[in-house]
Amino acid sequence: MAAAASADAAKPSPIEALAVADLHKGPYLVFGGKTGWIGQKMVTLLKERGCEAIAASSRLENRSDVEAEIDSVKPKFVLNCAGVTGRPNVDWCEDHKAETIRVNVIGTMSLIDLCETRGIHVTNFATGCIYKYDDEHTIGGKGFTEEDKPNFTGSFYSLTKGMVETMCRAYKHVLTLRFRMPISDDLNHRNFVTKITKYARVVDIPNSMTTLFDMLPVAALMIHKGLTGVFNFTNPGAVSHNEILTHYRTHVDPTFWWANFTEEQCNAILKAERSNNTLDTTKLETALADVRIPPIKEAVEGVFIRMAENLKAEGAFPPVNFKDSEGIPKPADAK
Ligand SMILES: NC(=O)c1ccc[n+]([C@@H]2O[C@H](COP(=O)([O-])OP(=O)(O)OC[C@H]3O[C@@H](n4cnc5c(N)ncnc54)[C@H](OP(=O)(O)O)[C@@H]3O)[C@@H](O)[C@H]2O)c1
Repeated sequence: MAAAASADAAKPSPIEALAVADLHKGPYLVFGGKTGWIGQKMVTLLKERGCEAIAASSRLENRSDVEAEIDSVKPKFVLNCAGVTGRPNVDWCEDHKAETIRVNVIGTMSLIDLCETRGIHVTNFATGCIYKYDDEHTIGGKGFTEEDKPNFTGSFYSLTKGMVETMCRAYKHVLTLRFRMPISDDLNHRNFVTKITKYARVVDIPNSMTTLFDMLPVAALMIHKGLTGVFNFTNPGAVSHNEILTHYRTHVDPTFWWANFTEEQCNAILKAERSNNTLDTTKLETALADVRIPPIKEAVEGVFIRMAENLKAEGAFPPVNFKDSEGIPKPADAK
């Protein structure tokens, strides 16, 4: 056991592994690379490694435009980081079902299909929010594997994502990466941390999560290897909302406060339910056996240490406590 742990500690981190990898130079055509949160980060990461990364211009639902762009760029790899994700959040998809299907189902499958006929590898930046804890997969118990059937259909967004994943399995050239609750080292509005720091009350449930600092290099390494199939794409383990917010208060804002409520109370104020689950990362860790993917509790602490440094460099430390600035009263049971 101790020998295995020390062998694991000797492995490079994803960033270290990426720095020495002789990455395929591309071209990489990145849908969502112009304006998307994750897509822009992938374009930057690939360019920093000397690769040719092009942000796609065509809209997924316009098949002939997508086809023309693919035939013009002639990519070695296509990354699909595009899709409707809803503004301000996925509740939007509940009221815009046709638009959600047009882009996230028809558009995504059309892109994948066009690449199949041309032998182009596609990575679909997908979601692991297609499961919820059940009797067999309890909090602290075994995680959902890539072979478990989706059991969470509480939101239209997740329902369609689960359907697309099932269809993608019929294609042999697709790498499906199941992100969950992505976390970045800044206070971007898409960052899961930013979202939960704005609420006065949050649930406190352990979840699998994806720290982008560690996992986007993992994505680049997997694409470079030409891997295909479905992968749970989170750091190993699970972390709770309270653990995250405690780190935030310790490293970023000592005045920060929040209160908890139950999952039932949370669902009562949302249009669509939110998924809570732990994913099994054995398949991912086996595929990247020469890299040490930091466990989520360790990875999250790293996020806040870097976030504090980044905010100081920007002259924005400590950040505004959004709840205070919006005049939201502190509940009597706030932490
Ligand atoms: N962030 C999360 O919490 C999370 C969690 C799990 C999985 N994911 C998945 O990861 C992917 C990227 O997420 P993100 O957070 O980066 O999303 P995002 O910031 O909302 O970016 C979405 C991107 O998709 C583009 N897009 C929307 N409709 C399009 C269309 N019809 N044709 C072409 N491009 C279109 C947007 O371009 P415009 O600005 O021009 O519309 C934007 O560049 C999504 O598929 C999402 O489902 C995200």
